[in-house]
Amino acid sequence: MLAIDDKDLGTPESKSKKLVTLAIDGHAVSVPEGTSVLRAAAIAGVAIPKLCATDSMAAFGSCRLCLIEVEGRNGCPASCTTPVESGIKVRTRSEKLEKLRRGVMELYMSDHPLDASECKADGNCELHRMAREVGLEKVRYNHGARTHLDLAVDDSNPYFSFDPTRCILCSRCVRACDDTQGTFALTIDGRGFNSLMSPGQHQHYIDSECVSCGACVQACPTDALMEKTVLEKGVGTRAVVTTCGYCGVGCSFKAEVRGDEIVRMVPNKDGLPNHGHSCVKGRFAWGYATHPDRVRTPMIRERIQDPWREVSWDEAIAFAARELQRVQAKYGRGSLGGITSSRCTNEEAYLVQKLVRAAFGNNNVDTCARVCHSPTGYGLKTAFGTPAGTNDFDSVLESDVIFVIGANPTEGHPVFSSILKRRIRQGARLIVADPRQIELARMPHVEADYFLQLTPGTNVALFNAMAHVIVTEGLANASFIHERCKPHEYHRWHDFIVEKRNSPEAAEKVTGVRVDKIRGAARLYAKGPNSAIYYGLGVTEHSQGSTAVLAMTNLAMVTGNVGRAGVGINPLRGQNNVQGSNDVGSFPHELTGYRHVSDPKVRGEFEHAWKVTLDPEPGLRIPNMFDAALDGSFRGIYIEGEDIAQSDPNTHHVAAALQAMEIVIVHDIFLNQTSNYAHVFLPGSSFLEKNGTFTNAERRISMVRKVLQPLAGKEDWEVTCMLSNALGYPMEYGHPSEIMDEIARLTPTFAGVSYQTLDRLGSAQWPCNDAAPEGTPVMHIGEFVRGKGRFLPTEYIPTEEKTTRRYPLILTTGRILTQYNVGTQTRRTKNIVWHPEDVLEIHPHDAEQRGLREGDWVEVTSREGSIFLRAVLTERLQPGVVYTTFHHPDTGANVVTTEHSDWATNCPEYKVTAVEVRATSRRPERIPPARIVQDAMASKL
Ligand code: SF4
Ligand code: SF4
Ligand code: SF4
Ligand code: FES
Repeated sequence: MLAIDDKDLGTPESKSKKLVTLAIDGHAVSVPEGTSVLRAAAIAGVAIPKLCATDSMAAFGSCRLCLIEVEGRNGCPASCTTPVESGIKVRTRSEKLEKLRRGVMELYMSDHPLDASECKADGNCELHRMAREVGLEKVRYNHGARTHLDLAVDDSNPYFSFDPTRCILCSRCVRACDDTQGTFALTIDGRGFNSLMSPGQHQHYIDSECVSCGACVQACPTDALMEKTVLEKGVGTRAVVTTCGYCGVGCSFKAEVRGDEIVRMVPNKDGLPNHGHSCVKGRFAWGYATHPDRVRTPMIRERIQDPWREVSWDEAIAFAARELQRVQAKYGRGSLGGITSSRCTNEEAYLVQKLVRAAFGNNNVDTCARVCHSPTGYGLKTAFGTPAGTNDFDSVLESDVIFVIGANPTEGHPVFSSILKRRIRQGARLIVADPRQIELARMPHVEADYFLQLTPGTNVALFNAMAHVIVTEGLANASFIHERCKPHEYHRWHDFIVEKRNSPEAAEKVTGVRVDKIRGAARLYAKGPNSAIYYGLGVTEHSQGSTAVLAMTNLAMVTGNVGRAGVGINPLRGQNNVQGSNDVGSFPHELTGYRHVSDPKVRGEFEHAWKVTLDPEPGLRIPNMFDAALDGSFRGIYIEGEDIAQSDPNTHHVAAALQAMEIVIVHDIFLNQTSNYAHVFLPGSSFLEKNGTFTNAERRISMVRKVLQPLAGKEDWEVTCMLSNALGYPMEYGHPSEIMDEIARLTPTFAGVSYQTLDRLGSAQWPCNDAAPEGTPVMHIGEFVRGKGRFLPTEYIPTEEKTTRRYPLILTTGRILTQYNVGTQTRRTKNIVWHPEDVLEIHPHDAEQRGLREGDWVEVTSREGSIFLRAVLTERLQPGVVYTTFHHPDTGANVVTTEHSDWATNCPEYKVTAVEVRATSRRPERIPPARIVQDAMASKL
């Protein structure tokens, strides 16, 4: 069903630059060569009736409704499959055509209720609209004839239903699933009258391969596939364009509203990251925004053992400010800090870091990127000069070789994975490196040329070995290196990389990947010609996370794969605004635009604008805040939108640190694990309740627009302003656009960004300034931002987290499609049907050695603690490696993770924990938070 205000031009746009002129109903029309007559007519304002065609997919030509006549030619071809030709004269209306179309529609309606009032699409059904358009008033054929009207509705999917009695077998859903989503879950089964659209092998939707992206629902021209919310509440009456609040793909949506309720989210056809596609989270899992668990009133308490007391906003803010001031007076200026959120907007993250630097008077601000992509920032900035991905998502459509490492796009970045899969189906080659056989390694219609199943923690050895092959086999791009990179650093790196210890033979011993596979993958990547790297937390969350990012930059530079479409180093960011929160100054050592606080010129600009003196010393990182809390020098924290007690490593340590603080302020939409230790709870607003911007993984700044009123009455930026004002540092903004204007004034890469610019362009990729007024899809063209690219030796150093006889397995972690991060939002939606609990994946060989069977409860013990999970036996893993997700708080996955971290950025080594797995006779009770605190206090204080 079309979104409100959407137009469907029938067939996709042709990219041809050559124009062709034809006549449609006597009017001259010029369109690009390759355009269909149906689309040309729509562009000229002539609506030809159609059913099976839609502009998001190639024409299919099955419904025969879009018939036309072409002067001088016999017959009535379908306009959706007829390309324009110069000089042809097309007629779209004639008595003959109208009779033919009525005949076609009559056949359709003989098996479908003609009365539009029976239509479940609430008047927004293309079938009934076409019946009206062709003037069909009655149906002659269906009296006593066989029909499909007694078929049962498939209601198995929690979000949409399929009513086969309303299906006209147009195949739009099948094509959407194949071409747009790339899952191939649907088919038209049977022949003739017995034909039926069916998920899988006559399965219900819920039992099929369907991943609930909703593309088929959106494509369906009738009321056969319908969102359940629309069936319950009716269609929307207005639409607000906004940006998804889940992952770093940053899909654009139209939120359709009826009254003051959202009835559905429809991916925006004009959205540049997603082009009208989405995944199950963005399209369907928005119900958490109005979940009864939402906290709507501020709360305070003197001690964390006390019950919460609901108070007014003024009282909560006054209490918080008083306590912050008391702590700072007693323990000093550096005793406070703050954490910004990658789920909140750029404007909100900017205000939190401003609060810390200007009102607290120190630089103790950090963000959740600390625990995910901080090595990306370090590595890309060091080598190229900018701590962000090099290319836009669409660039992958120009890649010849795609190297995916440490990322699981079909689960973590589903809409990007659909584009990537399409490119692979078009013929691009694929290299996948991961300790676990992710779906992309082998799935219907996609198979990696090389699947490198490496041991966790050995990425650097793999990258070095690939570079060794490239250099020693003469595959290096000499002219790129000569023109674009620092020569003396290249020579030093060259001498390092050709050493035997970086050979594939040496790497095989540590990575477990065969020499021939390493050599083959290296040759494939080097020969491209356009080779792109996409990576995720499987690269960064290691003790050598930053080294691995640098090793990838070496690979890209030595092969010349930077600075044009189809290539580059592209981090797949986890949270919706992790890029943005970093851009706007959330790290303790950097002001906006990644400029160091020690730079007096930069600091001076901020001091002038903010009217304060800033501390030139970098502040504490999150792990340092915890250590300082346990040492007694850090005593208060303001945490916006992050559940550190669940998401950060070594839960015992985090809990003890929080327990040691005297004022913990949690600003969030739900009570969470961290708020167990809080004295003030400030109710937050979801992305649907605020205005602002998010910046996705491709540096794209997109508008977030208010769809609902904030449940607790305030947007998050307003709350930060109140707190700052109460602390005596004035923050007066009338609208988030004024905050963005301030960011733009103070940040050269954002100089051209304003809400007016974003409204005009739809979105913009930074740098966006005088040099690039419409933004920068591809960076480092012609020259790196830092000038010459830097080759740095990347010595492989094994992690200190060793397996031993006591802890013989390596635990690594990841995500699944239907849950998001620590599950705060998705666990409060119907997505829970797909993932009610985290499980431990274990190879059958390791399971057998431990006497484990599928579904058994096991105790997973590391040097830090134990957790309890159900075992799932799978050969996706190699023996010696076990895997779990971290979406459920009662799993406590971070109870077992260690404090090892990246040498440069302190990003925790989540991906490598030595553990033992043992059968346990019964499901143990979950560890209550209070026990965690007691244990932690006993061990650390
Ligand atoms: S919801 Fe998505 S995956 Fe499922 S059948 Fe429809 S298009 Fe395919
Ligand atoms: S379910 Fe809808 S889109 Fe699919 S074949 Fe039937 S009418 Fe067409
Ligand atoms: S891919 Fe990411 S941004 Fe897009 S709809 Fe899904 S969760 Fe939202
Ligand atoms: S719209 Fe052209 S054949 Fe169906």
